[in-house]
Amino acid sequence: MKIQKNISLKTYNTFGIEALASHFVEITTVQDLREVLKKEDYPNKIVLSGGSNVLITNDLNALVIHLNIKGITILTEDAHSVSLKVMAGENWHDLVIWTISRDYGGLENLSLIPGNVGTSPIQNIGAYGVELKDSFVSCEAMDIGTQQLKTFSKSDCRFGYRDSIFKNAGKGKYIITSVNLKLNKPPHKLYTSYGAIESELKEKKIKHPTIKDVSDAVIAIRRRKLPDPLKLGNSGSFFKNPVITKDVFATFLENNPEAPFYQISESSYKIPAAWLIEQCGFKGKRFGDAGVHKNQALVLVNHGDASGQELLQLAKKIQNAVLKQFGIVIKPEVNIIG
Ligand code: EPU
Repeated sequence: MKIQKNISLKTYNTFGIEALASHFVEITTVQDLREVLKKEDYPNKIVLSGGSNVLITNDLNALVIHLNIKGITILTEDAHSVSLKVMAGENWHDLVIWTISRDYGGLENLSLIPGNVGTSPIQNIGAYGVELKDSFVSCEAMDIGTQQLKTFSKSDCRFGYRDSIFKNAGKGKYIITSVNLKLNKPPHKLYTSYGAIESELKEKKIKHPTIKDVSDAVIAIRRRKLPDPLKLGNSGSFFKNPVITKDVFATFLENNPEAPFYQISESSYKIPAAWLIEQCGFKGKRFGDAGVHKNQALVLVNHGDASGQELLQLAKKIQNAVLKQFGIVIKPEVNIIG
């Protein structure tokens, strides 16, 4: 374990933002994590995992802990299912591909989501009608204050839409070190009705899809709509889709009869933030090197040398415009640090 000074974080965040960490350490074991957390000479510690859901807005005068603990273990297995323990530093998409190659079902709709396994519970990652919580059993997390490991069951995690205890009461208190998942063996139950999966499969003339076919379809759809962070810096959806009450929705629909929406309960509706942003004229717009993606208005992009501040200003400009035009508050989904 080596603590380095003045390290550029450009390659550690998928926005590709240039920012310096005054101190930086790469952690590959749970024991090393415990030791580094005990160090009192670095009061300000920030954990950076896959760097795919952060906007770094300034140089960080902190010890940046890059979590890179690897390993996948099969815990139990029977004729119907398999339970896995996956360490936090495993890349999420690599895990999905690993499970598909062994015909373990459950994660195929979550193909190509950037980031690492350890951060997947924080926002209960989701796509195409499936969320992490559907396969999640429990996770282990280190209490930053006591360095003790604690197990969080599924109900302990209080999962919601892009939400969990780790974004609320547990915020800044824990570092997730591993995640336990339960996956299914064939015959698989597939979820293909959401979004464009069905039409993608039809186009490929696949009548009886496998989990690999569903994964390939999701990959194809995502590649078309979402920019590859290695080519164009981005952090996936920058904002959450706002959830509004029935009353607010009634007025909204009256003024915007053509707007897409999803009813999520008796009394609440979700409006795609991408649609709101597009209506405000931001889709494909560029302000210096900070911009809005041309194919998906929910994704902010770094065309090269945008600073975190420039992207933050653009995000605020968008929030203000949406508020002014629709009276709806949209909130960032990415974590803003700095
Ligand atoms: N839309 C627009 N303009 C756009 C893009 C979309 O008007 O530029 C409209 C579409 O017409 C569609 C609606 O917005 O009716 C929803 O779009 P889409 O199906 O692409 O999904 P999303 O709500 O924008 C969410 C997740 C994505 C996930 C997709 C697919 C959030 C914040 N985002 O996006 O997750 O991949 O559904 O399930 O919930 C991420 O979290 O980083 C992420 C990419």
